[in-house]
Amino acid sequence: MNKKTIADVDLKGKVVLMRVDFNVPMKNGVITDENRIIQALPTIKYALEHDAKLVLFSHLGRVKSEEDKAKNSLAPVAKRLAELLNQPVNFIPETRGAALEEAVKNLKEKEIVMFENTRFEDLDGKKESKNDPELGKYWASLGDVFVNDAFGTAHRAHASNAGIAANIGTTVAGFLLEKEINFIGGAVDNPERPFVAILGGAKVSDKISVIENLLNKADKILICGAMAYTFYKALGYEVGTSKCEPDFVDFAKSLLEKAQGKIVLPCDVVCVKVSDEDAAADFFGAIAKAEEKTYPVTAIPADQMGLDCGTGTIELFKKELAGAKTVVWNGPAGVFEVEKFAKGTIAICKAISELEGATTIIGGGDSAAAAINLGYADKFSHISTGGGASLEYLEGKALPGVEIINNK
Ligand code: 3PG
Repeated sequence: MNKKTIADVDLKGKVVLMRVDFNVPMKNGVITDENRIIQALPTIKYALEHDAKLVLFSHLGRVKSEEDKAKNSLAPVAKRLAELLNQPVNFIPETRGAALEEAVKNLKEKEIVMFENTRFEDLDGKKESKNDPELGKYWASLGDVFVNDAFGTAHRAHASNAGIAANIGTTVAGFLLEKEINFIGGAVDNPERPFVAILGGAKVSDKISVIENLLNKADKILICGAMAYTFYKALGYEVGTSKCEPDFVDFAKSLLEKAQGKIVLPCDVVCVKVSDEDAAADFFGAIAKAEEKTYPVTAIPADQMGLDCGTGTIELFKKELAGAKTVVWNGPAGVFEVEKFAKGTIAICKAISELEGATTIIGGGDSAAAAINLGYADKFSHISTGGGASLEYLEGKALPGVEIINNK
């Protein structure tokens, strides 16, 4: 990465403003997945070991009402961070004002202040999300150096990243952001070949730019998930009641023509028959109860809905993956939330993790959650902490949160 990192600056005695992505899933105030906190620890520890006076901040959720505010306090995250670091984290339940300024002024080397959810500022004219110039300037005025380690938020130009960077002399990357760019950027821009991408998920429309960008970079693109049905339509197959985007059939057709064999589609799918009423009332319940059957993709009956890829597809994908030196995976292969339709996603996860001598990357989101929950977290070279951010990087877009970092 051609950007300065925290290792390039002197931190001793400096007030270091560190933007992290602590946008972690929570249920009733309890953190249900702390991976993003764990992944931020190396940069936080480095700053403390190098005598920084550390000010941490992040957004959490989307804040549009007082109710959202009550649900999205970062207080439980600050508490968990203190436990993980085994040192106090002085949490200030404000995003500006005298209490915050006083706490920052009184910081000693190796101490931490963390302030409240930056998106609390969104209640008053979306100041954080719309990068209000006064807000970025105010936060920048609190510190000497800005460290951006929030890769998960790098596709957003917020006051807490772009706004601060525009008003402070030094902006550097944290180690997590550096690692993300080195892995994902390395795979996309300078991959060891063969480079195989596996793209799943529900909609072609969500992945158009990724497919287009990767067609020029990858040696093979394996497509799975409900996205595949739009491609089958493009090939003239019937897809029964499976999810499909009729408006994107022509686009899928043009991609298949352009790809000249580079795109590989599943050859069989696991289907069920569900009535519209049952699906509308409780989709997951209805498909869990229905009896499943596997069909070749050329023979999906009119009353059947495809929900996962079959065992033939797994063997096909394994063959395509054999010998790959770089693999990027984004998006599940089926409705993995229901156990019996998680088999394709699990098999893909296993197949990638067993590749020898390959750099294997999961581009965040559902596939990252699936791999971590299935116990494959340490079987991949890299699991991205950024769903939206890694997707935009795979699309070939410049990420504002990376652009703001000083060049080496
Ligand atoms: C994410 O989880 O993708 C990031 O934290 C960004 O969150 P957002 O989509 O609410 O901006």
